[in-house]
Amino acid sequence: MTVIVTGGAGFIGSNFIFYMLNNHPDDRVICLDKLTYAGNLSTLKPVMNHPNFRFVKLDICDRAGVYHLFEEEKPDVVVNFAAESHVDRSIENPEIFLQTNIIGTAVLMDACRKYGIQRYHQVSTDEVYGDLPLDRPDLFFTEDTPIHTSSPYSSSKAAADLLVLAYHRTYGLPVTISRCSNTYGPSHFPTKLIPLMIANALNDKPLPVYGKGLNIRDWLYVEDHCKAIDLIIRNGRAGEVFNVGGHNGKRNIDIVKLICKELGKPESLITYVENRKGHDLRYAIDPTNIHNELGWLPETKFEDGIRKTIRWYLEHRAWWEEIISGEYQNYYEKMYGNRAVMS
Ligand code: NAD
Ligand code: TYD
Repeated sequence: MTVIVTGGAGFIGSNFIFYMLNNHPDDRVICLDKLTYAGNLSTLKPVMNHPNFRFVKLDICDRAGVYHLFEEEKPDVVVNFAAESHVDRSIENPEIFLQTNIIGTAVLMDACRKYGIQRYHQVSTDEVYGDLPLDRPDLFFTEDTPIHTSSPYSSSKAAADLLVLAYHRTYGLPVTISRCSNTYGPSHFPTKLIPLMIANALNDKPLPVYGKGLNIRDWLYVEDHCKAIDLIIRNGRAGEVFNVGGHNGKRNIDIVKLICKELGKPESLITYVENRKGHDLRYAIDPTNIHNELGWLPETKFEDGIRKTIRWYLEHRAWWEEIISGEYQNYYEKMYGNRAVMS
């Protein structure tokens, strides 16, 4: 089959492309990506000359361009990873989040309606459910948990999810949605917690922990996330939502300390800084549905996944050094330069 993967030059999308080309040698994979600050063509270097792979630089909001690509490629499946994905950036400037995450999703689905599709898959997030209290470890997000967002990012993702379900009900578009927890692994852009802490620690720079570092995220290794999406697009029932998560809740501070330990760096690098506005306390996924329906379970233990991830950053220093040497410096100064240091 022919699969269009949008946002494939980003973190999870690139890992998904590698997963698809490795596991389904007969499939053709087309990456559609605008190459924003988060898109990195060098990540896709290993597959650029693969006979079953094509890269197209395109904005998912560009209706004419998207229609032209559909006409040319006649895709069987579309997997939409393309998004503005960083909560902190959405707090600084929400507008582009609405454009890409909502309008872009509508354009892709309109193209699917116009040219026909076997499956449109929306890569969503557990953040659409808002957060859970820290003192109720018994609570988890299920697919029936009400949508209750906190940030402009999660609100834009929730709006897109509602639109996807509306296209299913109204037009009968064969859609699925995955709502996944925090993902980590190779080629994660170093504005997110784990890669930022690894890069800063390797450069002996302060490790900026928001608030007291007690917020909890449910971490999933990227290959497990890719496997879940692959199962959903092949075997998941149209119209269904699947929560994807690892039962792997960890406090931010414990992750940062583990990274220090693995890299042999002192915990004195940890700096507690002003908290994120509207900071979600805890995310935790109940993956019973995807387990029962598709037999999916996370396979990588956090201790193994974090070691693999750290090794990748050690072996691909040029990849992230190049990123943090450019425009990233301005970003970093803006985000962290004025952030008050807390005791
Ligand atoms: P990322 O920021 O690393 O990559 C996003 C990619 O989308 C980049 O390559 C970027 O160039 C591209 N893009 C952005 N706007 C575009 C546009 N208008 N047209 C075409 N391409 C565009 O993101 P990620 O972490 O890989 O996340 C991928 C998807 O998974 C997102 O939809 C995100 O909401 C979702 N998600 C991420 C996580 C996580 O922990 N990273 C968890 C759950 C869900
Ligand atoms: P992040 O990787 O941005 O993912 P998300 O906000 O989508 O969960 O952040 C993960 C957690 O780490 C979140 O609680 C915020 C915190 N954090 C820090 O403490 N310091 C940082 O520099 C960053 C980027 C995040």
